[in-house]
Amino acid sequence: MFDKTTKGELLGFPRDFLWGAATASYQVEGGVAEGGRGPSIWDTFSRQEGKIHDGGTGAVACDQFHRYPEDVALMAELGLPAYRFSVAWPRVMPDGRIVSQKGLDHYRRLVDELCDKGIEPVLTLYHWDLPQALEDQGGWRSRRIVECFANYAMTVHDALGDRVRQWTTINEPFCSAFLGYGAGIHAPGHTDPGAALVAAHHHLLAHGTALRALRSRAREGQQFSIALNFSPALADGYGPHYAEAARKFDGLHNRFFLDPLLGKGYPSDVLEDVAHLGGLAEAIKDGDLATIAGPIDWLGVNYYAPTRVKPLDDPHAPSNCPLPGLRGMDVLPPRPPLTGFGWEQTPSSLTELLRWLNWHTGGIPLIVAENGAAFEDKIDAEGRIRDDERANYIAEHIRAVHSAIEGGADVRGYLVWSLLDNFEWSMGYSQRFGIVHVDFETQRRTVKDSALFYRDVIARNAVPSGS
Ligand code: GCO
Repeated sequence: MFDKTTKGELLGFPRDFLWGAATASYQVEGGVAEGGRGPSIWDTFSRQEGKIHDGGTGAVACDQFHRYPEDVALMAELGLPAYRFSVAWPRVMPDGRIVSQKGLDHYRRLVDELCDKGIEPVLTLYHWDLPQALEDQGGWRSRRIVECFANYAMTVHDALGDRVRQWTTINEPFCSAFLGYGAGIHAPGHTDPGAALVAAHHHLLAHGTALRALRSRAREGQQFSIALNFSPALADGYGPHYAEAARKFDGLHNRFFLDPLLGKGYPSDVLEDVAHLGGLAEAIKDGDLATIAGPIDWLGVNYYAPTRVKPLDDPHAPSNCPLPGLRGMDVLPPRPPLTGFGWEQTPSSLTELLRWLNWHTGGIPLIVAENGAAFEDKIDAEGRIRDDERANYIAEHIRAVHSAIEGGADVRGYLVWSLLDNFEWSMGYSQRFGIVHVDFETQRRTVKDSALFYRDVIARNAVPSGS
């Protein structure tokens, strides 16, 4: 199949290592006006001219709202032990508050289909599709969102907690808060850096509040987590000014979200970096940090690539990277080899990240909840998709996880992003991450060679060393 991925001795993983694939509601479901679903901020945002690279929306996506039995059957054929998916808040609560039984019934059918096929549901409560009605009342900028989210979380847990053991509160608060309220490139499309920091705090507070509520009604064996996206900052030169540039990016992108979850509070260096924006200090009330630091059973680690940085001569000059308050440094172009999306392929950074997280978190179990690569796909004359580049990316990063485990990191799983080609947010359908190809005209699924490679890794609980 691929000489680079099938050669060499087998590198084995711990027993019970959790393999699987991941998607998200707005990216795959479609059926945005069916089953009583209300509008989300992504329905609103993706319909705005110029916001989405190819003008695409999630209105139909992979039509998983209707085709989930076919997709679950495909997962079973591939031998996937777990499926990470997200619940669409506006499908369960069209206005963000009042429950739609039809919406809950949809996820009951999906969970039953998965469990009946022996596939572990890994349920994310929030993967960015906020009910528009709540955004109209301030969305993540308003502290009222915290109680709304906790009520939503308890509603879903009451409905599905009998069969769902793995619960993730929020996927990537960084993207939802900083890209949605600060950079304007994600829904709801605001460009207010101060509001982005406040929104970030409300995401973390919502996580902690929901976590406390879910733990109060937890069933035997249930585990609770949050998924953060990490990009290690790589200084592109030597010297204190380069180290400072890396500190700034790492602080805002990674530690600002991670440290409060660990009970370390917001990192003081980052608070200093963003003090000129105002707003955040007033949003942090007594008790918030303790709520945010409620214990998690594992940390979801979404990793794709590192970020190369360099200092600017003027420490207060605005950065070319639109993160709130980021100044005095620029992000540099990624170094080849690149994926089809233009992202750097540096599996060693994943190893280093996992080892650092193991140390920094004091050994909290880690699950790589997303990792994958977008490349152009070609269907050959026999209808086969020989996506060697994607398979090689996945192989290299699974080896990187193996190396981290060998180095003592407590990594419990790897979930490939993504099961299906899907709606890639501001890039629409232009970037295919799936190990299964989707023809968006016909909705036909085609298993790619990378899925067959991944199937074999799972079956053997091991990856060929490649050399
Ligand atoms: C993210 C999201 C996914 C993306 C994937 C590729 O990490 O941004 O969780 O929804 O589609 O990461 O960008």
